[in-house]
Amino acid sequence: MKPKVLLDKVGLWSATVVASTALILGVAPMTAKAINVPTAVTEDGKNTYKKYCSPCHGEEGKGDGPLARSMLPKPRDFTRGAYKFRTTPSGSLPTDEDIFRTISYGVPNSTMIPWDILTEQQRASIIPVLKSFSEAFEVRKPEPPVNVGLEIRPSEKSLAEGKKIYEEKLECWKCHGVEGRGDGPSAAEQEDDFGFPIKPFDFTTGKFKGGNSDRDVYLRFTTGLNGTPMPSFAKELTDEQRWCLTHYVMSLIKPEETCK
Ligand code: HEC
Ligand code: HEC
Repeated sequence: MKPKVLLDKVGLWSATVVASTALILGVAPMTAKAINVPTAVTEDGKNTYKKYCSPCHGEEGKGDGPLARSMLPKPRDFTRGAYKFRTTPSGSLPTDEDIFRTISYGVPNSTMIPWDILTEQQRASIIPVLKSFSEAFEVRKPEPPVNVGLEIRPSEKSLAEGKKIYEEKLECWKCHGVEGRGDGPSAAEQEDDFGFPIKPFDFTTGKFKGGNSDRDVYLRFTTGLNGTPMPSFAKELTDEQRWCLTHYVMSLIKPEETCK
């Protein structure tokens, strides 16, 4: 079987670390690393999943491992193929890169840690195992990632435009609260597709589950979080308006609260 080469787009941090180490060592900086995702489930992948992931996600990926019982948010149930953190449009399956990114980055504000004790190859080997839990991956392919346009520079004008979108045009505050504390009037009644209560994200904490870059935030409200009440706002905004909204959301972070 031919392994598929996956470009590691996990985040600028790894590229930056590589680039700065390279500068110190005086070697040419590397821009992207290639890792191999096996095209089918391997023994290695199965064993790694069983040892490190099944205590929470369950032997068959139903999110019902022995540690899951009293946990909230619950470990993901992989059987529906509903993944929150994607570069692909609302309702689509995630790409292998998306899954690799979550395994490596973890999910802040939950028990899902960044799995950096595993090698990149081990992390990649788990991807086919996760996909094998859901028939969705047999019958569908992930749609191509959404196009993230060129970022504009934040300015008073862009922030004011973002605020207008947040407060008037798309009414994000109804769930996330006017100050972004996740305490809007509709916040208390939110449930995910599995019937568990779910809180709209508190932007003031700054610890975004799907990643902290402007690009991550742009992607979250553009693609929506599958399996949750967080909708996709893919059609309502121009690219420039998306950056205005992104910068406004980032401006709601309260630095004194992120240090706690
Ligand atoms: C201690 C419990 C725990 C362990 C162990 C654990 N996870 Fe998770 N995982 C979670 C929780 C909780 C979530 C849901 C977080 C949320 O949605 O807020 C999650 C979510 C995920 C997601 C969902 C991503 C998405 O886009 O929806 C993936 C993929 C994942 N875990 C992979 C793994 C893999 C692979 C391992 C083993 C290397 C692993 N997890 C081990 C608790 C765990
Ligand atoms: C119907 C309620 C609802 C509305 C309206 C809503 N959200 Fe959300 N949003 C949620 C919930 C619930 C979550 C948390 C999902 C989770 O924790 O898995 C969320 C998560 C997010 C995240 C992800 C944060 C992270 O952890 O990575 C971003 C970004 C976001 N919302 C932005 C917005 C923006 C911008 C708007 C308006 C355009 C908006 N939301 C409107 C319910 C809502």
